[in-house]
Amino acid sequence: MSKQETYQALLPQIESLVAGEKDEIANMANVAAALHETFSFWWTGFYRVGRQNGTAPVESVQLVLGPFQGPVACTRIPYGKGVCGTAWQRAETVIVPNVHEFAGHIACSSASNSEIVVPVIRHNQVVAVLDIDSTDFNTFDETDKYYLEQICSRI
Ligand code: SME
Repeated sequence: MSKQETYQALLPQIESLVAGEKDEIANMANVAAALHETFSFWWTGFYRVGRQNGTAPVESVQLVLGPFQGPVACTRIPYGKGVCGTAWQRAETVIVPNVHEFAGHIACSSASNSEIVVPVIRHNQVVAVLDIDSTDFNTFDETDKYYLEQICSRI
């Protein structure tokens, strides 16, 4: 099965998993598990925009580790830092074919070689990011971007 066919089969399964459930954490947990199981990625998970300081400027709010599958990871990521913080700041998907060439990459694991980070957007605001790491180089492309954005829009 091609990657596109795998995503096409997975998308309705994810839709039915999250349909009718409004709890974001529960949905993120199932989406992380479904993607991780399907593709055997190295690390698959979410960072949520920290909300402790509701009135604080965005620069002092951080990404906080959310539901994930894989090895333990960094707990907090500042705005604009690493691939995750960059995707949050730009409010767009970031594909990194070789993490060692990405200035400011945060290495939670030395085994990771490529990465994609997709923002989860609600009411025009980034509320979380989906971060996927691979031990291979050049794992992610426009097909992943397209389907992962579809998946993130349903959380
Ligand atoms: N590499 C990410 C940090 C998160 S971990 O890989 C799970 C980054 O640069 O944002």
